[in-house]
Amino acid sequence: MFIPVNEPVLSGNEKKYLNECIETGWISSEGPFVKRFEEEFASRMGRKHGIAVCNGSAAIDTAVRALGIGPGDEVIIPTFTIISCAASVVRAGAVPVVVDCDPYTWNMDVSMIEKKITPKTKLLVLNDLQNPTGAECSVAEFEKLAEIVNKHNLFVLCDEAYFDIRYEGKSSSFASLPGMAERSVILYTFSKKFAMTGWRLGAAIGPKDIIDVIAKLNVNDESCPNHFIQYGAIEGLTGDQTEARQILGTLKKRRDAAVSILNSIEGVRCFCPNATFYLFPNVTGAMQKKGLADYDKFRRTVLQETGVSFCTRLHFGRPLAGEDNFYIRLAYSGIDTAEIKEGLGKFKAFIES
Ligand SMILES: Cc1ncc(COP(=O)(O)O)c(C=O)c1O
Repeated sequence: MFIPVNEPVLSGNEKKYLNECIETGWISSEGPFVKRFEEEFASRMGRKHGIAVCNGSAAIDTAVRALGIGPGDEVIIPTFTIISCAASVVRAGAVPVVVDCDPYTWNMDVSMIEKKITPKTKLLVLNDLQNPTGAECSVAEFEKLAEIVNKHNLFVLCDEAYFDIRYEGKSSSFASLPGMAERSVILYTFSKKFAMTGWRLGAAIGPKDIIDVIAKLNVNDESCPNHFIQYGAIEGLTGDQTEARQILGTLKKRRDAAVSILNSIEGVRCFCPNATFYLFPNVTGAMQKKGLADYDKFRRTVLQETGVSFCTRLHFGRPLAGEDNFYIRLAYSGIDTAEIKEGLGKFKAFIES
């Protein structure tokens, strides 16, 4: 069974900061460590106001609350989404309204968004370069979306967790479109590009009045993230980017190997996304072939027979009415190309046997 374990590696500067933090033992939600991190981070996105929070999900949750989303409100979210996003909306007492995606590329259908807008719609969650599908919006779609947002006076949560995990082309932020900075909060996590997953650090960038509310909520929820982690993030943002660039080349090779094997399997169809480290293949034919009619049976049987583990569609929200295709999500962030070839080779042999 593949359970990847990544060895933590600390650079010279990270060790220096860690020692400084241990020696001073000092932490404050508004001290110089915090301020410096927040300024560095916001300026990276060309903005002035940002706040550090303990992870990307906390950024989503506090942003929903800071925007005053509550009972009676509707929030548009993608069909497939990380559960913490829908959970934040439900916890606030609002209703998540899911919008269909293209069934192959998974791109959010902008024309469908407008059809779902009602007088109760307050917020749109835009997870461009999406988990679990890797879907992305084109600039033309962003522009169309900006018109809709203006017309219906909406706010947008731009979840940019995978902004930097892109193999070709250039990521762009919806918030950089004219007039959208005032209507958007950008959410980020240091778990992806900087592989600081275990360190737990997220951030939100947005208009000052909203960031001030997030700061007030956050100081009561969690005070603030540990300052040595924020120092680590400053180092990540401003230091040598060679390793962060190199890993993209490695991830691309893993993606290509995985997509190529998946598309060679009878009953599996996999789009090759240009971003994230996820694949979201349609496995309907493979499940039928093996006589495995539900996700749990499929997942468990594959794990027992091949040692390959994956999330299923159910980890990203309930199936929609009439949804008759089946999907799994594979992550290739913590597994090397040889292991991918071995694992998916076993998966292929099992499906085709
Ligand atoms: C789209 C997206 N947003 C936010 C997060 C939250 O990241 P974290 O809680 O690791 O900071 C994740 C984590 O996988 C994600 O996939």
